[in-house]
Amino acid sequence: KKTENQMLVIFGASGDLTARKLIPGLFNLYLAKQLPPNFVVLGASRSDLTDEAFRDRVVYKSPYLKEKIKKLDESEVKGFADKLFYMDLGKDYDTDYAPLRKRVESLKADHGTSGNIMYYLSTPPTLYETIAQNLSEAGMNTQNNGWKRLIVEKPFGYSLETARQLNKGLHKYFTEPQIYRIDHYLGKETVQNLLVTRFSNSIFEPLWNRNYIDHVEITNAESVGVEKRGGYYDKSGALRDMFQNHLLQIVSLVVMEPPIGDQPEEIRNEKVKALKSLRIMKDEQTLFDNTIRAQYVASEINGEKVKGYREEEGVDPNSTTETYAAIKFFADNWRWHGVPFYVRTAKRMPTKVTEVVIHFKAPHHQIFKDSGMQSKDNKLIIRIQPDEGILIKFGVKVPGQGFKVERANLDFYYSSLAETYVMEAYERLLLDAMQGDATLYARADEVEAAWEFVDPILDYWKNGKDVRMYGYAAGVWGPENADNLMNGFGFWRNPGE
Ligand code: BG6
Repeated sequence: KKTENQMLVIFGASGDLTARKLIPGLFNLYLAKQLPPNFVVLGASRSDLTDEAFRDRVVYKSPYLKEKIKKLDESEVKGFADKLFYMDLGKDYDTDYAPLRKRVESLKADHGTSGNIMYYLSTPPTLYETIAQNLSEAGMNTQNNGWKRLIVEKPFGYSLETARQLNKGLHKYFTEPQIYRIDHYLGKETVQNLLVTRFSNSIFEPLWNRNYIDHVEITNAESVGVEKRGGYYDKSGALRDMFQNHLLQIVSLVVMEPPIGDQPEEIRNEKVKALKSLRIMKDEQTLFDNTIRAQYVASEINGEKVKGYREEEGVDPNSTTETYAAIKFFADNWRWHGVPFYVRTAKRMPTKVTEVVIHFKAPHHQIFKDSGMQSKDNKLIIRIQPDEGILIKFGVKVPGQGFKVERANLDFYYSSLAETYVMEAYERLLLDAMQGDATLYARADEVEAAWEFVDPILDYWKNGKDVRMYGYAAGVWGPENADNLMNGFGFWRNPGE
């Protein structure tokens, strides 16, 4: 695919995301010669920085590029850094953008970037609409001299209502095809590979339904706590921070019907249908039975004292924000009728891991009575991260007399594809947006459908009568009660145990 000459304007360029993800992503694209010949980045923010100071911060003195830069030629690094510019927007993003427009015009003239511009919103979300409006008022959203695109960072809304408002607000100034809502999980190779596993193999898809699948389990665990983001996290919680976006994206790829082709809208239409099929939990009893939330409490991990969530910096000491969320739900459609989905996400777990486990039903007639295999033992495990790969667990005969069956593994690791360069999520997503490919970006109706499912849970957790908040020691697999959610379907699979 061709990447046209263009300019990237990053709002919030002095923030952490720019230094940690965006610039390293662009730097990789530059080293891989994927950037167009005429390309510049204009960082815009409220900090008072010169172009040079910005380059120092995000390239020359960046802790995120340090190791990489050591191995490179000075001229190579300079070649990239020289593409970066900075503009101080003053105290406020809500200001006249005429000076910004002037700067954009002069960079365009100097560097021949053409009128194609990508705006990247990496500011607090309350500013998204304001920025879109100001761009429009300065005439910077018109497409008669090149395309204009808007990438919007998460969180996209705080609830269904606010997500709808935000969509409406942005649509006043940018059309839907111009808007790219980023979800970095969609940039992960293994998440995209869910589509390939399902739709380019004839051995999985015929089994991918209620006739053969017993239940589906998705775990997203992080070993870190909230780190320095207590202030943000305490207003968000696991359900908003991870489940509404990243995990429901994974769910939609597991649940969706085969698209007719690989075009963005073909895939996104099916994902929306999948999300809309998730049964919304309405009454308190259902919510009580199918949702669990918890917070980590102080503990010792490997002899080191670890703070509880409520003691973390920026967190309210009486906080009722969850750091663990486990939800059981169903997809009401032909394929999945009656198959439970168990999805959990949490901070301060024993390890960092994300995986999808497809638990197959036991053969309907058990021939090998003393097989030693538990009945539901066929599993397909898709390891999203780390140790990216696919694992199939199946029964084999134990050599010797009789028919004793044992479990064996067929295990594929991406790392065995040694020659292949795996792009970082942000690198991949930036390149896609630069080329106008929105397949891996969330559409307005997709985001709203996800909120529609999550909203009643949030509401119940906030206002419900019998709602509980469990505790779990930092460093364990969540509260003990979490296994109750599974009733009849075994226990959570704790990877590595
Ligand atoms: C972010 C969340 O979206 O995803 C963080 O805000 C979380 O809280 C992060 O740590 C996890 O991403 P990854 O790619 O490390 O799994």
